[in-house]
Amino acid sequence: MGSSEIHKFYKKSREERIALVKEFAELSDEEATLLGTNSVLSFETSDKMIENVVGMQQLPLGIATNFLIDGADCLIPMAVEEPSVVAAASKVAGIARTAGGFTTESDEPIMIGQIALVGVEDFEKAKSTIIGKKAELLEKAKGIDPVLVKFGGGPRDIEVHERQAKSGKIVMVHLLVDVRDAMGANAVNTMVESIASDIEELSGGKSRLRIISNLAVHRKARAKAVFSKEAIEESFKGKDTGKTTEEIIDAIIEVYEVAEADQFRATTHNKGVMNGIDAVAIACGQDWRAIEAGAHSFAAFETKYRPLTKYYKDDAGNLVGEIELPLAVGLVGGAVKTNPLAGVCLKLLKVKTAQELAEKIAAVGLAQNFAAIREIATRGIQAGHMALHGKNIAVMAGAKPEEIEAVSAKMAEEKNIRVNRAKEILEEMRK
Ligand code: MEV
Repeated sequence: MGSSEIHKFYKKSREERIALVKEFAELSDEEATLLGTNSVLSFETSDKMIENVVGMQQLPLGIATNFLIDGADCLIPMAVEEPSVVAAASKVAGIARTAGGFTTESDEPIMIGQIALVGVEDFEKAKSTIIGKKAELLEKAKGIDPVLVKFGGGPRDIEVHERQAKSGKIVMVHLLVDVRDAMGANAVNTMVESIASDIEELSGGKSRLRIISNLAVHRKARAKAVFSKEAIEESFKGKDTGKTTEEIIDAIIEVYEVAEADQFRATTHNKGVMNGIDAVAIACGQDWRAIEAGAHSFAAFETKYRPLTKYYKDDAGNLVGEIELPLAVGLVGGAVKTNPLAGVCLKLLKVKTAQELAEKIAAVGLAQNFAAIREIATRGIQAGHMALHGKNIAVMAGAKPEEIEAVSAKMAEEKNIRVNRAKEILEEMRK
């Protein structure tokens, strides 16, 4: 297997990039062509995916390099509109790989289906009656999705919780379902809808809702990386931070601790995490709204809203980063199948199960967050961000493809990245 450490990938032509990715991921000619196609969805296909289709809204698809995850090199497909996200992830992956890259793990793919019952007289009695019939209820739910059961998934457990709503007590039944390589919404929704009437009968209540919960607390993925002192020092070579490496590490930990202490900062901190997670999720055809909802809800699960990552020093003084969040992702169904490019992106990631996909996405979330707080703790976010943003500004000012690089380089040199200045530079260049 090739290395994902591809020198100056960003300087290569589109054809060279695609050729490298093709070789790395052993793509077929057809898959490589798809990767380099601007619009992969036909009108006919997209008109079946959603309603009232008129056109196509597109995002650039970039490839983050340098990632070593659980000992395997991988290229990361990222669909995102924000400059510097792909570059930042690649940069941090390069720092992490010197100490072995990212290590990951994840829970079994268990999703929760909810049945909320109102009008139940006696919670304890309803609970014991439902739990008493658990085996029969699970058996019935199992019969709903024999394909899932054939692949080793299916309903696993039933929990009964009491909730207090404005209008009275609610009995909340959770059906826990192992959805294997699916995101799971369809399977879970069908199951809870099919057993709701049995639950009503057992409890004497009326079911008000029967649907999946996007707070997938049983389906978390975790990633960890050591950012060695040496690699951090090397990453700032030639850049004046005014700090020693030890001071940089302490400053990064302090930036993280601010997020622990302050919800306003924690939200932005987590936005940085989601820059990476959403970009991979979108590239791979995932339901990123479900991922977003679950991530932020988990950030406040049974506690105040907190950062999804944490940082500390190991005994040798290296910086260690960790991330944990629910990731309901799938390899079957949904846009994964209708959008052929999603399949190619999954192939780049070399994932065989939804759990592996979740683990890789978690690693990218950690990388993205580390990239942001590394900048914030040293030069400030604008230095790196704006240098790349300059290309955007150059385009906005009307630069032709062959002029973009020169205009953005000149603005970066002048530390003046504005559309007006880009227009002036263009005028001067064209004279
Ligand atoms: C910008 O898209 C994301 C950041 O604001 C994240 C952060 O502040 O940690 C840079």
